[in-house]
Amino acid sequence: MHANSSILIADSDVKTRDLVSAFLTYQGYNIACLEHNAPFFDTVKKQNIDIVITDIAHLSSIVPDFLDRVATVNPLLVVIAYGNSGNGTKIDSCENVFTLPKPLNLDELESLVMRAREYQTMKSLDTVSGDADQHQALSLSMIGKSAPMRELFGLITKVAASNATVLIQGESGTGKELAARAIHQLSTRNRNNFIPVNCAAIPDDLLESELFGHVKGSFTGAYANRAGRFEMADKGTLFLDEIGDMKANLQVKLLRVLQNREFEPVGASKSQKVDVRIVAATNKNLEEQVAKRDFREDLYYRLSVIPITIPPLRERREDIPLLVHTFLARFNSDKRNALKGFSREAMELLCSYDWPGNVRELENLVERLVILKGSGFIAPEDLPEKYLTGKHSSLPPVTAQQSDIQLPEGGICINSAVDEFENRLIMQALNRTGGNKKEAALLLNLKRTTLIEKLKKKHLAFGEE
Ligand SMILES: Nc1ncnc2c1ncn2[C@@H]1O[C@H](COP(=O)(O)OP(=O)(O)OP(=O)(O)O)[C@@H](O)[C@H]1O
Ligand SMILES: [Mg+2]
Repeated sequence: MHANSSILIADSDVKTRDLVSAFLTYQGYNIACLEHNAPFFDTVKKQNIDIVITDIAHLSSIVPDFLDRVATVNPLLVVIAYGNSGNGTKIDSCENVFTLPKPLNLDELESLVMRAREYQTMKSLDTVSGDADQHQALSLSMIGKSAPMRELFGLITKVAASNATVLIQGESGTGKELAARAIHQLSTRNRNNFIPVNCAAIPDDLLESELFGHVKGSFTGAYANRAGRFEMADKGTLFLDEIGDMKANLQVKLLRVLQNREFEPVGASKSQKVDVRIVAATNKNLEEQVAKRDFREDLYYRLSVIPITIPPLRERREDIPLLVHTFLARFNSDKRNALKGFSREAMELLCSYDWPGNVRELENLVERLVILKGSGFIAPEDLPEKYLTGKHSSLPPVTAQQSDIQLPEGGICINSAVDEFENRLIMQALNRTGGNKKEAALLLNLKRTTLIEKLKKKHLAFGEE
């Protein structure tokens, strides 16, 4: 299930170590425990450790300067530290050290492990080989690791190098403007202007002069010559946003500029040459508009030399945790009481929600939660009501309530789902009882020996019996 992150557990308390180790082993991680007296950084290096989970007091006692060294050993290494460090501010300022309080809560721990993995994905995307610089610039602004997004990044990188006109289509909030800016940034025009024009926001009768400029006296109120957006974008990029809202008379004029690369300011007698790259965007279906004759077919073909479609968020759900964690880090920055993460249940709800407002809606939600909740972990009850009715989850159900169980659209392997369900209940019981098997067995209505038998069968090494 996981691309096998290797996790090192460093804690002198055997009970906690076993609990954490069993919990993460059944989730598919490679777990190692730091042996007594073993050198910490050597172990991290030799065993290719990605994540360290540690009791902060323990680690500080064996490697007093670990905070200063941790980032230099491996910039992708994440340390999840629990307990009371006595020196919270310093830890909070290390971007690859995540903290959580004691007593340890396994759901919170799991949430931080997920966050650590998203952090590592982000960092490693920054250093993709090949078009490293371009990828870095892109991944700084556009986040995504799903196949369609990686394909999109490849396309943007290629397209940027040309001068071709680009038409970006996609639902509201999918990142069309971000993509347009990325194309400009990655092109040789990036030293010149990126000029956006929102064709839907400017009144029809003003749009022509806004685009092409006007000469003094050409209409009432034209007191002086004024340059239009085309002229301002000379040698740069003109971003025609909401192009589907442009009226027919202007569509003709735009077509002429695209054909001849020259335009006439309102009231001028001479045309003016211009060297601009056009990127247009719309959340309307332009082909349908062409069919209904609301949009000129010839203009449509001129604009869509390179068509780019940004898929809605619900078609790339694996980007959701990455986006959530990135926005979380962004909105958390420079706040002292930072929100730490999302519980597994809360994240599953977000992953199964349909996101009609796409990335913008998700960004706004995370910002609101950071402001309103401010610290700790987000549980389902912290989410606004509309996010609570997830129907499309491909993950197995995690609560015992019958009504929560939904058969995923693509079907499910019932044996592994039941197994996973059982595992989670067992782990929750052990978590709640601090690893005490007798009490956990009581909670599960099992004999203690049956519970131990199950743990063995599931290869959940769990202390000595
Ligand atoms: N892949 C992404 N990574 C990070 N942030 C994103 C991504 N996609 C969109 N956003 C953010 O979501 C918000 C909406 O993006 P943008 O304005 O580019 O969308 P849009 O498609 O132009 O929307 P609309 O159709 O409503 O104009 C912005 O704040 C943007 O930064
Ligand atoms: Mg937009």
